[in-house]
Amino acid sequence: MIGPGGWDTVAAAAPVREFEEDWSPAIFLRNYWYVAAWSEEVGREPLQRWLLNEPVAMWRRRDGTPAALADRCPHRGAPLSNGRIVGDDIRCGYHGLSFCGDGSCTAVPGVETLPAGLSTRAYPVVERWGWIFLWMGDPALADESAIPDYHWKDDPGWAGRGETLPVAVNYELVRDNLLDLSHAHFVHRNTLATDAVVDAPVTTEFDGERLRVIRDMRGIEPSPFFKRLCGFNGKVDHRQQVEFTPAANIVISVRVNSTENPDHAFENRVLNAMTPETDRSTHYFWSLERDSQLEDEALTDAMFTANRDTFFEDVAVIEAQQEMLDRAPEPARPVRWHVDKGVDRAQRWVAKLLREEAAQCAAAAEAG
Ligand SMILES: [Fe+2]
Repeated sequence: MIGPGGWDTVAAAAPVREFEEDWSPAIFLRNYWYVAAWSEEVGREPLQRWLLNEPVAMWRRRDGTPAALADRCPHRGAPLSNGRIVGDDIRCGYHGLSFCGDGSCTAVPGVETLPAGLSTRAYPVVERWGWIFLWMGDPALADESAIPDYHWKDDPGWAGRGETLPVAVNYELVRDNLLDLSHAHFVHRNTLATDAVVDAPVTTEFDGERLRVIRDMRGIEPSPFFKRLCGFNGKVDHRQQVEFTPAANIVISVRVNSTENPDHAFENRVLNAMTPETDRSTHYFWSLERDSQLEDEALTDAMFTANRDTFFEDVAVIEAQQEMLDRAPEPARPVRWHVDKGVDRAQRWVAKLLREEAAQCAAAAEAG
């Protein structure tokens, strides 16, 4: 049994990593909420997930609240998620150190008095709308009012289903795919394609808080998706709005109505949370929600499958794009035209936010 007097040597041999040291180079925005998991993925067994190049261990306490820690024991570096949950705490499977959800060490086997300051990094965590959100930056800045709005997922007026799609690209390629839906004409010929999407004028709105890309197409041929699943036969008016909010959230709002009979209408929301796993892989959390025929489970399944098939078409294109960009990088002045308005705006906006975060970080380091 080691008493308090024996701790100097032990504490010195087990340095506690400072928060700032854990930051990767400025590739990803940090001071934002990211979707880390579906509610049902996190339980009384530890879940390991890499987020923004960092290993995270998640679990639930006995009262059901989620907890998230850096998945690396500060003692010898073993993944905490290889251990087990005991009470409210996670216990390392290597030497049995236990940590509670705030990151502090609660037990060291064979030791009576714990070393002061022995802790690991804790991530602020909030469960909302069936997703677990983690704050990946400075915990002091975590603000629940900044959680991106995905309320459609558990709004009783909406029904739908989604999943996580692993994509072997930097999250930006998923984001940019969604900000330029003109690709539907070429990539999704059998699913979402509308011939009008390429020629329709694009409006971009940006207010410093959100970026919107809007297409308002009147009297067009419905896509195979809306023909088959929503019963549109004649011409339709099809309005799509793609709304991006940092760090990696996109809500696509679609309204389709019969041009002849505007009361025959259908609305959906495609929710897209593109959480970076590494520089070259993304946890793409998505869900497709609709506001009609809420009890129709068969329709939910059919829409889920149709949307997933559509996303598989995207994944094939953007994984090939990522490989090409890595092997033959873009020229300094790539070609752009009107369909790129949203992509261009988002890229410049995120680059500016990354510069601001880097400056904040440098200022904090200087002050500290
Ligand atoms: Fe697509």
